Amino acid sequence: MRILVAGGAGYIGSHTIVELYKKGHTVVCVDNLYNSKLKVIKNIEKIIGTNIPFYKVDCCNKKKLETVFKKESFEAVIMFQGYKAVGESVKKPLEYYRNNIDSALTILELMDKFNIHNVIFSSSATVYGKNCKSPIKESDNSQCLNEITNPYGETKAMIERILMDKAKSDKTFKAVILRYFNPVGAHESGLIGEDPNGIPNNLMPYIAKVATGKLPYLNVYGNDYKTKDGTGVRDYIHVVDLAIGHVATIKCFNNKKTNLWIYNLGTGKGTSVLDLVKEYENANKLSIKYKIVGRREGDIDKLYCNPKRANEELNWQASRTVNAMCESSYKYEFNNKISGGELCQKTKKLKKK
Ligand code: UFG
Repeated sequence: MRILVAGGAGYIGSHTIVELYKKGHTVVCVDNLYNSKLKVIKNIEKIIGTNIPFYKVDCCNKKKLETVFKKESFEAVIMFQGYKAVGESVKKPLEYYRNNIDSALTILELMDKFNIHNVIFSSSATVYGKNCKSPIKESDNSQCLNEITNPYGETKAMIERILMDKAKSDKTFKAVILRYFNPVGAHESGLIGEDPNGIPNNLMPYIAKVATGKLPYLNVYGNDYKTKDGTGVRDYIHVVDLAIGHVATIKCFNNKKTNLWIYNLGTGKGTSVLDLVKEYENANKLSIKYKIVGRREGDIDKLYCNPKRANEELNWQASRTVNAMCESSYKYEFNNKISGGELCQKTKKLKKK
């Protein structure tokens, strides 16, 4: 199948393009490079050994995006585009609602206009809200509505709702909603991985910067949660397993029984912050300095999924170990030449405030 990948230069999009090519699919990639770099496209091309058509286009710009729909032919769209930082979304809600909802609607309207019926949407476990009990099943979020804690999560839930309503109104329209747990790690080549701007908000990229000396130590946000060692427990999934999960859903489009699918993509296993630190140290034979500090606002004790539906219906399972996640994360960070000094300066300034 030929697929338009919106936000294909980003962390999950780039790994998915690689896995799509492995299975014989081809892509057209659009990305505004807001949170990614053109170098990522070059590195994807190095891994797959062929060039991919790339357009630097903002998916909110209907006129420009329409030129891509006119020029290229494809049968499905994967929507990775969108802002994704939880904390930033609390500070800039209007930007998040405008960008995430607008880009999704623009793509869906163009799909309608150009008779493209198949879409895969990059959603998040954040739609389960703060009170869902782990392990979480796909059906659990109906009980947890109104418990989403940030605008980023609200945009994911709203786009899910838009897709559900569209699927109800148009039986030729087929939508797959994928709720990611905590994607981490990088491609084994070390060429693509997670490259957040500035100081990372998420645990694994932060550990990677401590491991390579770009940041002095990790802040562990709380050790008084109701978990085995008191630190937060999450369902970390290797980004390559996650990417393979997307490829596995393509067969849904041939299923005539229904036209909307929702899947959790996670391992079903919980790992604490301190577990992850230990695994990182063992996998890469180094030591990670950390300090226990207060809880981060909005965090919950445990979040992991029941992945049974994806395991059974898609014949997909996350198989890569936490060790492999840590090893690949370090390899990518090591290869990735970001100035470490600059980051350390920024941390010092923040601490003074
Ligand atoms: N943590 C630290 N120190 C840090 C960063 C994180 O101790 O510097 C802890 C957190 O308190 C939490 C765990 O590490 O217990 C994981 O935190 P992350 O920020 O890596 O991930 P979250 O689970 O908070 O959020 C992630 C994504 C969201 C997504 C959510 C869905 O960032 O986009 O998973 O499960 F919505």
